[in-house]
Amino acid sequence: MQVFHLKKELRSSLSILIAKNYTIGMVPTMGALHQGHLTLAKQAIVENHYVVVSIFVNPTQFDNSDDLKKYPKTLDKDIDLLKTVSDKIIVFAPSANEIYSGEIKSKSYKFNGLEKVMEGKFRTGHFNGVATIVELLLKAVMPDKAYFGEKDFQQLQIIKKLVEIRAIPIKIIGCPIVREPHGLAMSSRNERLSKEVRKKADFIYKTLQSAKNKFGTKSADFTINWVQNQFKKYSNFKLEYFLITDIDTLTPVLRKQKGKKYRAFVAVYVEGVRLIDNIALN
Ligand code: PAJ
Repeated sequence: MQVFHLKKELRSSLSILIAKNYTIGMVPTMGALHQGHLTLAKQAIVENHYVVVSIFVNPTQFDNSDDLKKYPKTLDKDIDLLKTVSDKIIVFAPSANEIYSGEIKSKSYKFNGLEKVMEGKFRTGHFNGVATIVELLLKAVMPDKAYFGEKDFQQLQIIKKLVEIRAIPIKIIGCPIVREPHGLAMSSRNERLSKEVRKKADFIYKTLQSAKNKFGTKSADFTINWVQNQFKKYSNFKLEYFLITDIDTLTPVLRKQKGKKYRAFVAVYVEGVRLIDNIALN
């Protein structure tokens, strides 16, 4: 498996493949890979001849320095895992100076309000950091298609907007959420939970599923109240937000409208770890 740390070396290897008319997919990650990431890589390998998986813990998207410090760095293990997926995977693991070309700083973006709610509201500067690094990574690789998980649905919508406003000719593909056997959405942060809480955390997805059922017949307000009450029963799980939004604009729904698609989003703190999840409601 080829592993590159420098943009120039990656580009020259990719240009040989592109000259042979091979298509390139890309999966940007921050490493500490799990089945969620690997599923994205598998989908990308089915739809492209070669796939670049980038591994870079991006400092500018962390609003919490402790979270950044604790973020696991497991490059050798990640490479071994990717080897089990395909020998057509190329790893790009740049240093911060290499990918940022010196100045490790976010640019400022406007995404029609998509950046203002949920993760954007509660994690100051987060999406400027995400958009900055994703723009740099996409431009360094210039794949035909790039794959992102619906686990971070707001991020996915923002990246679709990013390529649109910057006119970057790359197709952005959203991939379904991969879950642990009892329903907890897979995340590198799950490793930081105690065994007991990790098991209990299944109730987050179960609550989302019940919210989906309620929303089938009841109002958004009723559903939101019901979810908030469920969380009161689990005192060590602190609900940061639960929102039902239109999937395109991510604006909170006040009254259901025919023909619109809705999604429910949740962010929860437990044992100092922040977990997010979401579910399609119709
Ligand atoms: P990271 O959290 O490593 O996630 C990399 C990609 O894997 C993202 O597109 C994310 O949505 C997807 N992913 C993570 N867990 C998933 C799951 N359980 N099911 C499906 N997909 C999952 O997201 C980031 O990194 C960063 O913000 C990044 C885009 C790389 C920019 O730094």
